[in-house]
Amino acid sequence: MAEKKERLEKILSNLGYGARKDVSYWVRSGWVTVDGVKAKSASQKVLASQIMLEGKALDHPDGLTLIYHKPLGAVCSRKEDGRLIYADFPERWLGRKPALSSVGRLDKETSGLLILTDDGALNHQLTSPKHDISKTYAVMLAEPLKGHEQEKLASGTLMLDGDERPCKAAELELTGDNTANLVLHEGRYHQARRMFAALGNHVTALERIQIGELSLASLSLQAGEYQTLESDALLQMVVGKKL
Ligand code: URA
Repeated sequence: MAEKKERLEKILSNLGYGARKDVSYWVRSGWVTVDGVKAKSASQKVLASQIMLEGKALDHPDGLTLIYHKPLGAVCSRKEDGRLIYADFPERWLGRKPALSSVGRLDKETSGLLILTDDGALNHQLTSPKHDISKTYAVMLAEPLKGHEQEKLASGTLMLDGDERPCKAAELELTGDNTANLVLHEGRYHQARRMFAALGNHVTALERIQIGELSLASLSLQAGEYQTLESDALLQMVVGKKL
């Protein structure tokens, strides 16, 4: 999309740098340049790519998308108490408009791959049932698998407590007596945990290891780390081709 000229104060405040009155102060103090020349006014219309603040180019002026390795114990929320995933990102990102949000959520006690973006179209493409982007979870169970689970999960008839429709068919690949990889094609509240509860077992550890074609193992991200990338590049990594 072509870059659009905006008021300098609007660009900086929407990127989370500060309030408009702060921007006026920075302009008066000579800390903001436009094409290398001191900005004249906070209301000057410019392109974000022309601006430098204290000699530095702006932080992701064209949108922000990232792949994050969510650690255990972090909550996918901006408001709740406790350790929030947003504490792993620069504080300025919390003030950005449009807001950076996670594409779906992982429970506090689930670790693994999470995508965050401020690109509404990308978020929609990644979550829309039309694109059927699968999510793969490595599951550890309290009890050994009994042998009936694969067929039941694949049948598309498993009902979860409190739900009105059965779960969509899901694939289960056994990796040990009480471990497996579960591939889901929808995202319901606490779905993996509730599916195994419905099968008479209990999930003791859960990690999202893959979203579509993008696997955690292919990235060198420790828990709590992230990497930023362009929306198009992310989408290509997830779908494995250009949409
Ligand atoms: N299923 C769950 O139970 N929890 C998650 O975080 C994701 C899928």
